[in-house]
Amino acid sequence: VVITSPDNARLKLVRKLHERRWREKLGLFVCEGEDLVAAARAEPVELLVAGENVDAALLAAVSSAAHPPRVIGVYRRQDLPPPEPRAACLALWQVVDPGNVGTLIRTADAFGAAVALSRGCADPTAPKALRASAGSIWRVPLTVFEALEPAGTGVARIGLVPSGGVPLGELELRGEVVFCLGAERGGLPDEVERRRDASIPIRGAESLNVAAAAAIALYEWSRQNLR
Ligand SMILES: C[S@@+](CC[C@H](N)C(=O)[O-])C[C@H]1O[C@@H](n2cnc3c(N)ncnc32)[C@H](O)[C@@H]1O
Repeated sequence: VVITSPDNARLKLVRKLHERRWREKLGLFVCEGEDLVAAARAEPVELLVAGENVDAALLAAVSSAAHPPRVIGVYRRQDLPPPEPRAACLALWQVVDPGNVGTLIRTADAFGAAVALSRGCADPTAPKALRASAGSIWRVPLTVFEALEPAGTGVARIGLVPSGGVPLGELELRGEVVFCLGAERGGLPDEVERRRDASIPIRGAESLNVAAAAAIALYEWSRQNLR
């Protein structure tokens, strides 16, 4: 059957899932577009395909994308990779922009790192975050910042700060490391404990975008850990 009414329950579900509270309540999220659906590593709960099981204009109307997608899949949050230790972790403190959270997940994936999210971070399953993660959401283990091992135990926890830290290249980053990254506006408050702070030397701007800083930090970490 082809869906031809905007009041259809399956379309209503997709519309609801644009809101974080519904995603959290139902434990579901939406992947828009063929690339994101192809990257999924789980079976969708719903799969709507324009011209096949839903009218193309109706599918476009429930999409959040600039270009109407041909497919929209609904997936279970619990099907995302479970928390799993990785040698490097990006610990995000109140990073509120979903585009940044998605780019950080993609960056972590590129270097085999995990991502920890604090309370107040953007939802990694928000449509904008998923687009920015470009499928990496299915490969990166996500954990809760507040559940990480406390600073001062085994793993080196490095705060990344725009200025005032040790120049990143001078730090020895052998072995396991957690990089703490701060909010777009407020940065990293003192209450976030870490062993020491590092800065990427820059000139000409006050700071880097948080995902740009993470990419440089992970590059330096991987460079030092290559043999
Ligand atoms: C846009 S910056 C925050 C700017 C904020 N006004 C501050 O002073 O911290 C967002 C995050 O990116 C990271 N960051 C930005 N520039 C950096 C740099 N040059 N070196 C290390 N980390 C940096 C830090 O983790 C920072 O909290």
